[in-house]
Amino acid sequence: MNILVVDQSGQLGGGELSLLDLLEAWGRQARVVLFAHGPFEDVLRERGVHVEVCDAGAVGGLRRHLGLVAALRALPRLVHMVATMRRAAVEAGAVYANSQKAFVIAALAGGAPLVWHLRDILTSEHFGKINRTVAVWLANRRAQCVIVNSRATGDAFVAAGGHPDKVRLVYNGIDPGPFDTLPAAHAATLRAEFGIDAANPLVGLFGRLTPWKGQHILLDALALLPGVHALLVGDALFGESDYAQALRRRAAGPDLAGRVHFLGFRTDVPALMKSVDIVCHTSTDPEPFGRVIIEGMLAQRPVIASAEGGPREILRDGETGLLVPPSDPRRLADAIATLAADPQYRARLAAAAHADARQRFSRASMIAGVQQAIAEACDPASTPPAP
Ligand code: UDP
Ligand code: GLC
Repeated sequence: MNILVVDQSGQLGGGELSLLDLLEAWGRQARVVLFAHGPFEDVLRERGVHVEVCDAGAVGGLRRHLGLVAALRALPRLVHMVATMRRAAVEAGAVYANSQKAFVIAALAGGAPLVWHLRDILTSEHFGKINRTVAVWLANRRAQCVIVNSRATGDAFVAAGGHPDKVRLVYNGIDPGPFDTLPAAHAATLRAEFGIDAANPLVGLFGRLTPWKGQHILLDALALLPGVHALLVGDALFGESDYAQALRRRAAGPDLAGRVHFLGFRTDVPALMKSVDIVCHTSTDPEPFGRVIIEGMLAQRPVIASAEGGPREILRDGETGLLVPPSDPRRLADAIATLAADPQYRARLAAAAHADARQRFSRASMIAGVQQAIAEACDPASTPPAP
């Protein structure tokens, strides 16, 4: 099988990290086209993956809420990208699109059976009407199937007009290896490095700095919890530097000073997760899936997550983690205080979560699920007619 993979991002977001696992499984069978340079491209090259970058230029500047003028300005570049994709797709047995813009370009290009791995919740908060309409219209006509990373993502696709028969649910799976092999002393060393006393509860929030990931909610919760420290792990990957600056200003306030540690983008997430007492997830909008939740479970740390979208499919409240209403610092603070005060409860949740994550979110079942969807797409009986 010769798979042409297409992704719009050059950054290492959750979709790209998940794709790395698939590419490892596919080896030489896959080639990648990206629409932006960046660290993701570098990692692919280091791993020997055949990668071509067709810079999106003005198309990359199109916001998720699409305007007509901006769309017209981007048209020449769009035509170039479609032509590049069409050339690349000629020899492919299947095209696998790992992001929304990538899917739209691949769908316009045609040339081989097409699978869209939809990793976003297509709602009005994140996507303008034109964007959603175009993507769903193309999905119904050009995609053999649409892999979704949660039921919530699939439901939003169908609610936006997507054909339910196209939907295949494949949860992200994560390799427990890097979490299992860490020496126990490593966590204490990291804590000491950040100057955090062993007596202070430490929570961690892992994710890119962007308003909907809700780092500000955690800071507001911390203000209610004297003595609790937090690691904020992640960077502003898509130009949200104003938000990152606002967070730093807030963290320097007298009620938080010295308790919030900004670590930027890190490649040692398993070790950092093991160095905290509690992993928090604070998205203010429904999280499509939430890899960081599975990672917290694999690190054997209790996870508190926003009770919407993917997290509600991952965690059983009070059994494998705690779910709290999104955008509610008081309820988040209460949940942190409950866990901080009760090591046995923390250990119980963490143990149940660990077993559950290994069973339900394995990398092998994710790879099998995606491969099966691609195999189905290549079955000529299921191929829709050309538009
Ligand atoms: N991550 C990372 N370094 C960081 C922050 C995050 O490697 O500094 C990883 C994190 O471990 C997770 C991914 O980025 O695997 C984020 O994926 P998630 O599904 O949680 O959210 P997304 O950013 O894709 O919306
Ligand atoms: C997207 C989503 C995230 C999900 C990831 C992997 O980046 O925002 O929730 O976990 O894709 O599918």
